[in-house]
Amino acid sequence: MPQVFTPSADVWLGRIFLSLVLGGALLVTCVYYYGPPEYTRVGYAPSQPVAFSHAQHVGQLGMSCLYCHTNVEQSPHANVPTSQTCMNCHTAIKATSPLLTLVRESYSNGNPLAWERIHQVPDYVQFNHSVHVNRGVSCVSCHGKVNEMTVVRHDKPLSMGWCLDCHRHPEQNLRPNEHVYQLDWKPLLGQTQSEVGKQIQQQYGIKAPVECSACHR
Ligand code: HEC
Ligand code: HEC
Ligand code: HEC
Ligand code: HEC
Ligand code: HEC
Repeated sequence: MPQVFTPSADVWLGRIFLSLVLGGALLVTCVYYYGPPEYTRVGYAPSQPVAFSHAQHVGQLGMSCLYCHTNVEQSPHANVPTSQTCMNCHTAIKATSPLLTLVRESYSNGNPLAWERIHQVPDYVQFNHSVHVNRGVSCVSCHGKVNEMTVVRHDKPLSMGWCLDCHRHPEQNLRPNEHVYQLDWKPLLGQTQSEVGKQIQQQYGIKAPVECSACHR
């Protein structure tokens, strides 16, 4: 076999090849991490193990978010209910529906249903539900009209810029606490959202932080 390249040229070609591969990988990583999340997250609506519909349970049956997401007022996390909660009704209602087979199984064997997680901020971000929902910020501001969703969809970007937009102008999103779970609530006729929002902001003494350490500790 005649030698095409000198041994040292082989080494160099190897290095060039390696740097192209690494460069490509780095580029992909950058696009993945720094690409505008608006385009990758909003609209994400994974199919769930059980065809549970918020439109049916909240929109039509009128259930409150708190019946199932019981921790949202007291803790950083809004929990997803256990199958025990579903069986409060479904031992009697639609008790033999094939759509509820997995719920009945989970209830009897004690293994939780494997719901797909939809919303998640990175580990280096502090987020707390209770500080928002007890201070006049409704679920609808951050999750959209869940009461009309058959399948839950990621509705807002949950990016840093999006958090800060509201923290700089909270009056655009504030409402009296008693209407936080009423996703369809609107200011009374003749009042604008900013008027109501400014009033609530003053009344509750709301100050939404914009300094880095509030969200990154
Ligand atoms: C009957 C129980 C029930 C009620 C009432 C209910 N939810 Fe849910 N919610 C669930 C279940 C179960 C899931 C997980 C499956 C899914 O995503 O559909 C869920 C998921 C969610 C998620 C997505 C969680 C994630 O993975 O990121 C949001 C947001 C949410 N609910 C908001 C609400 C809001 C807002 C209300 C009130 C308007 C509400 N829910 C009322 C049971 C309920
Ligand atoms: C407060 C009572 C109540 C609770 C709690 C409840 N449901 Fe329901 N669910 C209903 C009613 C009422 C219907 C509608 C029945 C009908 O169409 O006649 C329904 C319908 C359904 C259906 C459609 C069944 C079919 O055959 O059409 C599914 C699936 C379902 N629920 C899942 C769940 C899950 C999962 C949970 C727990 C996260 C849950 N439900 C909690 C009352 C409840
Ligand atoms: C200020 C914005 C905001 C408001 C208001 C809000 N959420 Fe969330 N929600 C989020 C964010 C951000 C996440 C992701 C949290 C994480 O990764 O820890 C989330 C996650 C969730 C989850 C998934 C479980 C969890 O805790 O991570 C559920 C369920 C949920 N929200 C339900 C609700 C309900 C119900 C309400 C109204 C009572 C509500 N949220 C109000 C921003 C909000
Ligand atoms: C729709 C409006 C809105 C959005 C969106 C929002 N916030 Fe807030 N947030 C508020 C308001 C209003 C307060 C101030 C509450 C008060 O004065 O007690 C607040 C307070 C906070 C606080 C301070 C809590 C404390 O312990 O004092 C943190 C941290 C925070 N938000 C994080 C976030 C993060 C992270 C996001 C994005 C994932 C976010 N917020 C999105 C309205 C919002
Ligand atoms: C109101 C809450 C909030 C405040 C205040 C805040 N951040 Fe963030 N930051 C976030 C959230 C949420 C993310 C995650 C963004 C994502 O996942 O798209 C983030 C992500 C980041 C990232 C990762 C890169 C990126 O853009 O995704 C850096 C770096 C960062 N923040 C720095 C800062 C600095 C510096 C400050 C102060 C000038 C600051 N943050 C203030 C909420 C906040």
